Amino acid sequence: MAEHESLEFGKADFVLLDQVSIEEFMSNLKLRFEKGRIYTYIGEVVVSVNPYRPMNIYGRDSVEQYRGRELYERPPHLFAIADSAYKAMKRRNKDTCIVISGESGAGKTEASKYIMQYIAAITNPNQRAEVERVKNMLLKSNCVLEAFGNAKTNRNDNSSRFGKYMDINFDFKGDPIGGHISNYLLEKSRVIFQQEGERSFHSFYQLLKGAPDSLLRSLHVHKDPSTYSYIRVGGVIKSSINDSADFKAVADAMKVIGFTADEIQTTYKIIATILHLGNLTFGVDGDVTLIENTKLTSVIAELLSTKDESVEKALLYRTVATGRDVIEKQHTEQEASYGRDALAKAMYEHLFCWIVARINDIIEVKNYDARVHGKNTVIGVLDIYGFEIFQNNSFEQFCINYCNEKLQQLFIQLVLKQEQEEYQREGIPWKHIDYFNNQIIVDLVEQQHKGIFSVLDEACMNVGKVTDELFLQGLNGKLSKHAHYTSRKLSPTDKSLEFDRDFRIRHYAGDVVYSVLGFIDKNKDTLFQDFKRLLYNSSNPVLKGMWPEGKLRITEVTKRPLTAATLFKNSMISLVENLASKEPYYVRCVKPNDVKSPLLFENERCRHQVEYLGLLENVRVRRAGFAYRQTYQRFLQRYKMISEFTWPNHDLSSDKEAVKRLLQGCGFHNDVAYGKTKIFIRTPRTLFSLEEERAQMVNRIVLFLQKVWRGTIARMRYRRMRAALVILRAYRRYKVKSYIREVNRRFKSVRSMKDLGRHVKWPTPPKVLRRFEDHLKSIYNRWWAWSLIKALTPEETLQVRAKVCGLEALKGLRVDMGLHRPWVGNYLKRDSPDSASSFTLVSSELQRKDKFMRVLFSCNVRKINHFHKAENRTLLITDRHLYKMDPLKQFKPMKSIPLYNVNGVSVSPGKDQLVVFHTKDCRDLVVCLQGMVPPNESRVGELVGSLLSHFKSENRKLVVNVVSPIQCSMNGRKCTVIVEAKINQPQPDFTRSRSGYVLAVPGN
Ligand SMILES: Nc1ncnc2c1ncn2[C@@H]1O[C@H](COP(=O)(O)OP(=O)(O)OP(=O)(O)O)[C@@H](O)[C@H]1O
Ligand SMILES: [Mg+2]
Repeated sequence: MAEHESLEFGKADFVLLDQVSIEEFMSNLKLRFEKGRIYTYIGEVVVSVNPYRPMNIYGRDSVEQYRGRELYERPPHLFAIADSAYKAMKRRNKDTCIVISGESGAGKTEASKYIMQYIAAITNPNQRAEVERVKNMLLKSNCVLEAFGNAKTNRNDNSSRFGKYMDINFDFKGDPIGGHISNYLLEKSRVIFQQEGERSFHSFYQLLKGAPDSLLRSLHVHKDPSTYSYIRVGGVIKSSINDSADFKAVADAMKVIGFTADEIQTTYKIIATILHLGNLTFGVDGDVTLIENTKLTSVIAELLSTKDESVEKALLYRTVATGRDVIEKQHTEQEASYGRDALAKAMYEHLFCWIVARINDIIEVKNYDARVHGKNTVIGVLDIYGFEIFQNNSFEQFCINYCNEKLQQLFIQLVLKQEQEEYQREGIPWKHIDYFNNQIIVDLVEQQHKGIFSVLDEACMNVGKVTDELFLQGLNGKLSKHAHYTSRKLSPTDKSLEFDRDFRIRHYAGDVVYSVLGFIDKNKDTLFQDFKRLLYNSSNPVLKGMWPEGKLRITEVTKRPLTAATLFKNSMISLVENLASKEPYYVRCVKPNDVKSPLLFENERCRHQVEYLGLLENVRVRRAGFAYRQTYQRFLQRYKMISEFTWPNHDLSSDKEAVKRLLQGCGFHNDVAYGKTKIFIRTPRTLFSLEEERAQMVNRIVLFLQKVWRGTIARMRYRRMRAALVILRAYRRYKVKSYIREVNRRFKSVRSMKDLGRHVKWPTPPKVLRRFEDHLKSIYNRWWAWSLIKALTPEETLQVRAKVCGLEALKGLRVDMGLHRPWVGNYLKRDSPDSASSFTLVSSELQRKDKFMRVLFSCNVRKINHFHKAENRTLLITDRHLYKMDPLKQFKPMKSIPLYNVNGVSVSPGKDQLVVFHTKDCRDLVVCLQGMVPPNESRVGELVGSLLSHFKSENRKLVVNVVSPIQCSMNGRKCTVIVEAKINQPQPDFTRSRSGYVLAVPGN
């Protein structure tokens, strides 16, 4: 049972119908067809409805879905059946066969091709060249067989006009190693006659439409089919068949399969000969029959590689041996025409059988030794005509319907047998199943002496006039009591039967009325011996090889040839025996409508097929007793979640006990039987209930599994993250440690280094220690600075302090602060060595008088006086006062400014040496340092730094501005001092301006 489709698509197995009735069956079939589900099971039988549209269910992904799966694991499909057959063959070493039946156009041939494709797709995983070759041959053979054995009919554009059974042989590994094809009852009458709207075999049209002109010329044929009377009817039909392309495909396939060029050529010659034969006409001249268009005789002779006279003679005369004498008897015109048609049909039939035999020669298993290679197993595929009921049913329909009776009989036997065997195996009592056994009809046809075939053969053997009516009389005599046989004579009131013409058989599939007209003839299937000899004597060895029976001399006494009916019966019996020895799988094809529509489901039509295919019977047999069975283990696997005793695992003594417990719990105990290895469930309801419960539980289980699995995943992720973190941390620690160790190593002995480690290169820190490195560096710098400061003299300390103050006040605001040179402070002695002694004298005097402790700064300056004039002065700044001295008067001290009066200093951002001292009483002092040695030395930084340092040491505040222009107060009046560069200015000097003063400095 296929369990993986929702009920929306109907029931995937007819066995599960609530009630086995034709109505339910049909509505399920229809629903599934409409929902695009063309396959449905009856147990292990696939019912297939022709979709009449391309279905996207045969591709590689579908193959993978079904490969190695059990039947019920996936929705119904041909592939599932093919896989089952393949598995049975591979796992259990069983020969299997797949029987495909159904009426014309129901999709048998397509199904057989999909099955072969599936088998080809799943075998030979190692791509062995030999196996690939065999697979290719098997697939290619279809194309050739279809060209010669298929024709367009009113029911199917590509109708197989022969029955086909193909064995595929497999080696012990399950790879195809060869095959064998058997063909049954080719509809050869089609060669000379077709119904309106139908065509002859594809091969004729393919040759005319597809062969190159040179070939057509050599065969003396034209492209136009309507010029050939045998195939005229079909020549004008429009269809989607592309004969020209098919011709090439078939020629290629024949070549690939291994037909020689001569063989292919002979095939064309035979086809052409048949076309010419059809145009041959006979006339009478007095009592002589003659050929009217003798030109054709020579064409035929040429194509058959024989002499004109021989052809003509064979067509017009019959050699008869009477005792020792051999006489030639001339045909009547009618006999000649009959002979011609018989020849055409026989030639085509021989050609077809020869093609099959050639393919068999090539694909047969060679060099296989079972002792070495293990057992060679077989999958057989039977694609055979289904039941036929036409307006006028003749000998062919009779044979075909007999064939279907045989297959149905086999089906019943096997299915019943299988069921019975299974019940026995499982120890379950066998209950009688009420089904229609068609053995009685099979017997009606094939029984010795009494059967219809026997009566027919007897009638044919009669000496004297043999007619179809006599045959019917024979039937009426022998079968008058048979329940399944009747005729007008036996049922005089039945007007549907014609007197002396019709008989009716009640087949298992329905009643069929046959007309006896032509039965005798078709059964005798006479082909004058002269034709056989003619063809055997051809100098074309290929043609000769097709007609071994022509070897016999006319005088040789031969047994009467077997009749067509007997031949067919024998082939059917052997086919059925062959199938019966294998494990069978069935595909039952249904044709949904007559107009090849993908949408139309003609209820009556389908219902009829369902009836005569015996599908309902099949469901009954299958359900007789039990609708469902499954091994305990698999049953548990599927349903164990329903019961607490079995979920997740049971602890009972066996799976059987567990299943018992489970079913007791559900209350289904009375609807089941416990076999030895399998559980049998009587009604589908029970199974559906189990399925429903399962579906509910599955949701919960899925949720549970999802929960557990999500938890597991999260835990796994967490553990991984934690591990990563540990690793990360260890790695970081290692990096940090090795960095610290390296810093330690490099800086270990900096104390003893001359530069206290300034030159030591810092190792590159790991990323996390970048800020730490900054701190380290700053610690080091502090230590280094401290080490330096520690070694300074008091003077040097003062100087450093001053420099630090200068730097703090001016950094980034003024360039060139003179930090890199020693700050002398008292410059005057150095700048004016000549007058140094007088300066020293004056400054000592001032020290004595004003009691200052030290000189902060001294320098020559240019200064603006009260009269706004510039004059030279010397500036002496001590820790108490700011003195202005006149250098021209031995440094006579002018007015001094006590330092506590000074509250600010302004300088410009440029390179000039302008300094403005701001005083609390708004009597600012504006000076420009000058007379420096070397001349461009800048002392502004030093002056500011020293002053600031001193103020700081006394905890006083001094405001330092770096601006331009500088605002100041001269004697209480506000004014500005601007610095301007002038090209021809030799020395910096002040001039007056409207708003104050300009310090002109040398340009460039
Ligand atoms: N599975 C399928 N998918 C699509 N189309 C299909 C399928 N089966 C059959 N058909 C269509 O139906 C047509 C007839 O199918 P097919 O030739 O297999 O019939 P058949 O049963 O072999 O008939 P016959 O007894 O006349 O040989 C195909 O040519 C194709 O167009
Ligand atoms: Mg077919």
